[in-house]
Amino acid sequence: MKPFPPYRIQVVKEIPITTRQQREDALARASYNMFDLPSNMVTIDLLTDSGTGAVSAAQEAAAAQADRSYAGSDSYYRFRAVLDEVTSYPHVFPVHQGRAAERVLFSSVLKAGQLSLSNTHFDTTRANVELLGAEARDLPCAEFWNLDSTEPFKGNVDLAALEDTLRSEGERVGQVLITITNNGGGGQPVSMANLRAVRALCDRYGVPFFLDAARFAENAWMVVQREAGYGHLTPREVARQAFALADGCVASLKKDGIAPMGAVIGLRDPEVAKRCEVNLIATEGFRTYGGLAAHDLERVARGVEEVLDPNYLRSREADAAYFAELVNRAGVDIVRPAGMHALYLNAGRLLQHIPPHGFPGHALASELYLAGGVRCVELGSLYLGTFDEDHNLVTPAPFELVRVAIPRRTYTQAHLEYVADVLADVAKNPTRVASYRVVDAPPVLRHFNLTLERI
Ligand code: F0G
Repeated sequence: MKPFPPYRIQVVKEIPITTRQQREDALARASYNMFDLPSNMVTIDLLTDSGTGAVSAAQEAAAAQADRSYAGSDSYYRFRAVLDEVTSYPHVFPVHQGRAAERVLFSSVLKAGQLSLSNTHFDTTRANVELLGAEARDLPCAEFWNLDSTEPFKGNVDLAALEDTLRSEGERVGQVLITITNNGGGGQPVSMANLRAVRALCDRYGVPFFLDAARFAENAWMVVQREAGYGHLTPREVARQAFALADGCVASLKKDGIAPMGAVIGLRDPEVAKRCEVNLIATEGFRTYGGLAAHDLERVARGVEEVLDPNYLRSREADAAYFAELVNRAGVDIVRPAGMHALYLNAGRLLQHIPPHGFPGHALASELYLAGGVRCVELGSLYLGTFDEDHNLVTPAPFELVRVAIPRRTYTQAHLEYVADVLADVAKNPTRVASYRVVDAPPVLRHFNLTLERI
C-alpha cells in the first residue's frame, strides 16, 4: 500500500498566482537575491523547511493553553517532559532558534584558536564557530563527494580523518559536532555505527561530542529503513539511542519540532550546563523560556511527539522519493539517494554552458522562479566559493547545486508535480538559461545579502 499522510487538511492558506512579467519585475527589484523576494510573489516556497511546516490542531490547542509565567511555567514543564524523554539529557534549555543554541553552547566550550570538527557545519553553525575566533573544519566521508553514489549514509563523518585530526591537533580540538541529517551535504543521514565510532574516538581523545540534531527524526527514520540491525526499532527508539551517544545537542526545532520557532540545548556535563545557563539568561531569556513565547514551547513539545510518528515519517519519505522520481524523469539529476527534507539538484550538470563564475545553481534557481514562481536556493559557488575584493569568483565550490526544500505537511503531491513540470520545461531547453554576475556582496553570510545581475 502506498504511504499517505496521517492527517487531513483543516485550515488552508491561499498562495499567490502570478504572471511571468510580475515575477521578472519582482526578481529584478530583489536584485536577483531570493532572500529579498517578498513571499507574496512566491507561488511554491521551497526556500527552506525551517519554521515553514503546517502546525496541527493539537499544537494549536496546546498553544491556546500556554502558561506565560516568567519562571517555571506549565508550558516549560511540558516542553521539559518531552525533550527529557527523547534526549535523556539531564540539562535541557529552551532557546529561540538553532543559531542561538549554537552561540550559547559554543561560547561555553570553544576558545579562540580551537577547532570544531564536523561531518559538515551548517552555515550559521560555521559562523558561530568563526565568530569565536575558532576554526570550523568539515570532514565528510569519501562517498559524500560522489553525488551519484547511492551509498545509504553519505552524511557520515570520515572516521580516519577525524582520528588523524584528533591525534595531530590534540588539545586544539574543542568539540566534535555531528549534523544529523547533513543539511550541507545533500540531507544525507548519519549511521548509528558512525555515531558510535565518533563516541569512541571522542572518549579516547577526551573531546566533547555534540549533535546538531535539527533533523533528528528524519535521521532516525532513515536509520530504521537503511541500517542493518535497526529495522525492528521505532524512530523514537533510534533517536533516543543517537542522543544517548552524545554529550549533548543543539537542535533547531523549526525543522523536526514542526514548529514556527524554537530550539533546544541538551547537556550532560553540569559545568558546561552552568556556563550555558548564565549566557542564556543574560542574552536569550530565563532558563524556563529561553527567548520563546509560552505558546511556542507548547507547539514544540507537541511537534516533537508528532514528528516521531512512523506513519508521518513514512509518508514524508515517500513524498521526497516521489518528488525525486519526478525530477529524474524531468531529466535532472539530484544528489543521490534522496533524503527527506530537500532535494539537491545537480545544476552544474544540467547547465553545462554556464561556468562556475556564471553561477549555474543560481541561474537554475532563478529560472524556476521566473518560469513558475517556485522559490529555492543555490548551494554552489555563490554560497561556498571564495571571491576577491571586486566580487570575482576565485575558487569555485566543489558542486553547483540547488536545494529544493520540502516544508513539512505543507504541500501536496500535486504541488510537487507542478514544481517538477516547471523544472521539466526548463530542462528541455537548458541553454536558454542565463548566467549571473555578482554586483555587490558583504564579506560575511554573503548569500543572504548579495546583489546580482543577469548577463
Ligand atoms: N543546524 C542545521 C543543520 C540547520 O539546518 C539549521 C537551519 C540550523 C542549524 C540553524 O537553525 O534556523 O533555527 O537558527 N537551517 C535552515 C535551513 C535555516 O534552511 O536549512 P535556526
